[in-house]
Amino acid sequence: MQYLASHGQDKTGNDVIFSWLARYQNAAAAGAAAVNGTIGALLEDDGILAINAVVDAALRTAPAAEFAAYAPLKGLPAFLDLSVSLALGEHRQALVGLGLHTGATATPGGSGALYLAASNFAERGDAVLLRDRFWGPYAGFLEGCGLKAATYPLLPSMNETSTPHLDLEAFSSSLDELAATQQSVMTWLNDPAHNPTGLSLTGESRYALLNAFMESATRNEHVGHTLLLDSAYHLYADEPHGWAETIAEALDAGLPWPENMLVCFALSLSKSHTIYGLRTGALVYLHPEEASVHRLNDVMGITGRQTWSAAPRVAQHVLSELHATQEGGQAWSGERDRLAELLSSRRERFLQACAKHSVNINPSHDGFFAWYECDDPVAVAEACASQHVYLVPLTGGVRIGLCAIPTSEVERVAEALARATEAIG
Ligand SMILES: Cc1ncc(COP(=O)(O)O)c(C=O)c1O
Repeated sequence: MQYLASHGQDKTGNDVIFSWLARYQNAAAAGAAAVNGTIGALLEDDGILAINAVVDAALRTAPAAEFAAYAPLKGLPAFLDLSVSLALGEHRQALVGLGLHTGATATPGGSGALYLAASNFAERGDAVLLRDRFWGPYAGFLEGCGLKAATYPLLPSMNETSTPHLDLEAFSSSLDELAATQQSVMTWLNDPAHNPTGLSLTGESRYALLNAFMESATRNEHVGHTLLLDSAYHLYADEPHGWAETIAEALDAGLPWPENMLVCFALSLSKSHTIYGLRTGALVYLHPEEASVHRLNDVMGITGRQTWSAAPRVAQHVLSELHATQEGGQAWSGERDRLAELLSSRRERFLQACAKHSVNINPSHDGFFAWYECDDPVAVAEACASQHVYLVPLTGGVRIGLCAIPTSEVERVAEALARATEAIG
């Protein structure tokens, strides 16, 4: 195809998640008692999309102009304020009191926020440090911006116990390597409620990671350092604002915030407010200098303008009105709690069933997914599919979409994994 540029020609392959979803759908349509553990959207136990009823009702009362009009290029001011609150929670005031300035730019979902970070915080050709495993589209966001990926292991090796669920040593040595060879160091961390594993770092591990990042920035004062926390699922986690708490703790303990360091949150309202298709999120940033935050407002607003124009308006308007009153915020969180409970009861059952059937499942705490690390993920997923349990084989393991699996079918998934691994050996 002569008309496709070489970088266009490189874009190949169907999304693996959607192709396994299609297999589930075909099996179900043919009458099989099939289990859908493929998709990344929260479904009720009867298989329909879970909707936060308070958000839905509020959206339906919005005036026509709020649906139709453009939003300001950088986002509606009330929504930007809400974004900072959703990222930092009850620690917002403490962080401001400790000298941090906050800013935000509205984006089309969390994906838009990731794109803004990829396009502005790393020099072309540099590698961005990711935890191995990571959400597949990260690779595309980075590649599209001329960036590479470097990784550190998902979990510490067996004999390392000092930092639960974090290979601090590998993280720190990767940072050192990148800081020695690049003009910019950026790391993306999907925490809490990591996709694809459901892992959440403990307070101790968050503190250790932040401390290592601050030290690297201090040692390498001419290298920009950006810690990007991907908050796609945080509002379903046990400690939704653990990172804000950890940052406050570090500042309280007197750790110096180097001028060349930025912390930001890629906020997504897709899951937390069940508005996946309304494409609403924000990049939220924290820095001790107000001028830096103002500069970032401009840079991100201009990048958005050059890419998607403005982010959609209606949810920005409706949700900032909803959360403006205590009553509205509580109504939303009542629904959110119901959905979070659905996830945690499925997870609890699943982990218990895995223990019962001796399935060596990865640690999993919060959010939409659990993870089975294995050498041949396709063979394991195929063996499960032959039992009409549909999961997603990814690099290094199989993703179990607890978000989609009816609570009553969760044990069947553990049984299928047990048979699959027995068969494969
Ligand atoms: C890890 C992770 N980050 C970011 C996103 C972005 O979500 P959206 O762009 O739909 O808000 C998702 C969505 O699936 C995700 O799983």
